[in-house]
Amino acid sequence: MRTPLVAANWKMNGSREFAEHFFSDLNLEGVTSDVVICPPFPYLFQVAEAAKKNGGFSLGAQDLSQESSGAFTGEVSASMLLDWNSRYVIVGHSERRSLYGESSELVAEKFVAAQMAGLTPILCVGETLEEREQEQTLQVIAAQLQAVADLIEPTVWKQSVVAYEPVWAIGTGKTATPDEAQAVHAFIRTQLADSGPEVQILYGGSVKSANAGSLFAQADIDGALVGGASLDASEFAEICRAAV
Ligand code: G3P
Repeated sequence: MRTPLVAANWKMNGSREFAEHFFSDLNLEGVTSDVVICPPFPYLFQVAEAAKKNGGFSLGAQDLSQESSGAFTGEVSASMLLDWNSRYVIVGHSERRSLYGESSELVAEKFVAAQMAGLTPILCVGETLEEREQEQTLQVIAAQLQAVADLIEPTVWKQSVVAYEPVWAIGTGKTATPDEAQAVHAFIRTQLADSGPEVQILYGGSVKSANAGSLFAQADIDGALVGGASLDASEFAEICRAAV
C-alpha cells in the first residue's frame, strides 16, 4: 500500500518574511499524507527549522548538482542538502529541462547522485502540448524514464518518487482530467519494472483543492507536486487533506 504524498514546489518564489507567515498560517491538522516542502535554496535552513518546530512535513529541494563537490560555481550538492536534513529533491522538472537545457541523461545523473547520497529523488516526467497532440506522450515519458533506468538497478525505483507533470498543465490552470492523468500514471507504473507497485507516482499541473480529490481518487495517482497553490498555506493544507 503506497502512502499518499503531497509536495510543494515553491519554484523561485518566497522570502524570509513569506516563509515566516506561511509557517505560522500552515495548519496540517487532520492530514494523513506525507508532506514535503521544496523552497528555493536560500530558505532551506528556515524551512528545516520550521519542520523541526512545527513537524508534519519534510524538507525537499528543487534541484541539485550531479557532482559531489568542487569547482562548480553556483551549484548545490546532495551533501549540502543533507546538511539541512533534506529528505527529497526534485530532479528533471520541466522548467529545468526547457529553460536550462537539462537533458534526460543529465537528469538521470542527478537522480543517481541524489539516491546514492540518501536523498529521495522526485523524478519529473511529462510531455509538451505539441507532443500530446502528436500522440507521442507515452514515447516521450518512456524515454525520460529509460534514461534513468539505464543507470540503476530496477529495485532502486523503490527509493524514488516519480511525478507526472504534463507541461501543458503547469501554471496554466488547465489540469489533466483524472482519466487522462490515470492513463499516464498506469503506464508509468508499468515502466518501473517489479518496483512499479511500490513507487509513489504524483501528478503535477494546476492542482488545486477543488480538483485534488478527483485526481487522488484514481488508482495510480498517489499524490501531487503542487506549484502555485502551494504558496497559499490554507489552500496547500486543503490539498494535503484530500490525499487520503
Ligand atoms: O512542480 C510543480 C509545478 O510544476 C506545477 O505547477 O503551478 O501548475 O501547480 P502548478
